[in-house]
Amino acid sequence: MQTITTITATDVVAHFTTRTARYDDSSRWCTDRRMLDWLSNHLSPPPDAVMLDVACGTGLVSKEFKGKVGKLIGVDLTESMFTRGRSHVDDLVHGSAECLPFRDNGFDLAMERQGIQFMDAAAAVSEMVRTVKPGGRVCLIQLCAYGEEDRDEYFKILRLRNPARRNFFVREDLTTLLSDSGCVDVELYDYISEEDVGRWADNGAIGADNQDGIKAVYRCATEGFNRYHAVRLEDDGRIIDRMLFGIAVGTVTT
Ligand SMILES: C[S@@+](CC[C@H](N)C(=O)[O-])C[C@H]1O[C@@H](n2cnc3c(N)ncnc32)[C@H](O)[C@@H]1O
Repeated sequence: MQTITTITATDVVAHFTTRTARYDDSSRWCTDRRMLDWLSNHLSPPPDAVMLDVACGTGLVSKEFKGKVGKLIGVDLTESMFTRGRSHVDDLVHGSAECLPFRDNGFDLAMERQGIQFMDAAAAVSEMVRTVKPGGRVCLIQLCAYGEEDRDEYFKILRLRNPARRNFFVREDLTTLLSDSGCVDVELYDYISEEDVGRWADNGAIGADNQDGIKAVYRCATEGFNRYHAVRLEDDGRIIDRMLFGIAVGTVTT
């Protein structure tokens, strides 16, 4: 995991406040039916489960579980984001993932999608584990570099796209975060999302310079990067990337 330590919570809230209006449409993966179905089917919490969606944002993941579990709680730091997600959870808490305002062992399942890159990831995962009961599960879903060959270019792209990003992952980092927090039987899955880079880069919070910088990295991508991302430069000018999500699921012990 690479970390930029100068990013603060204030930077993150400012970033997402700017992005809120366009957030749900800012990437294909946000509302990707196949990914949401995968999560719903794979995690398949029982109908009486108490579930926590950390960094729930506008509630795009929560929405899939609302009504299918006993109780669903969302927590997020950015008011404009979680205000939009209010109807997708049973309870909404304005708070920090690094210091969850919940008792120990209260949840059956805690998950986060694309949240822990903006915070102290180890502290947040450790809080998720603390609040889940023994035998319950913690799930992390994060955009990741494939490995050494694409890491430098991809992290540069991610930094340009999201100046408030603090952590940059390869998928094994997710396994380590869960294991180090005391989870066992950690399983790691790959999920590939084909993204239109132009749409993805135009997120409402970065200027033309950053967007052009992102496209320039793709246009000059090394062979190693292309081996994994299979970048397509389409005739209509679009750039298509096979972005990788790591999905890690661990079981909480005592
Ligand atoms: C990329 S969005 C992900 C939203 C949602 N999980 C999804 O998949 O659509 C990241 C969210 O993390 C929230 N966030 C960032 N740092 C946080 C922190 N320390 N505690 C709680 N939420 C945080 C932001 O406010 C934002 O809503």
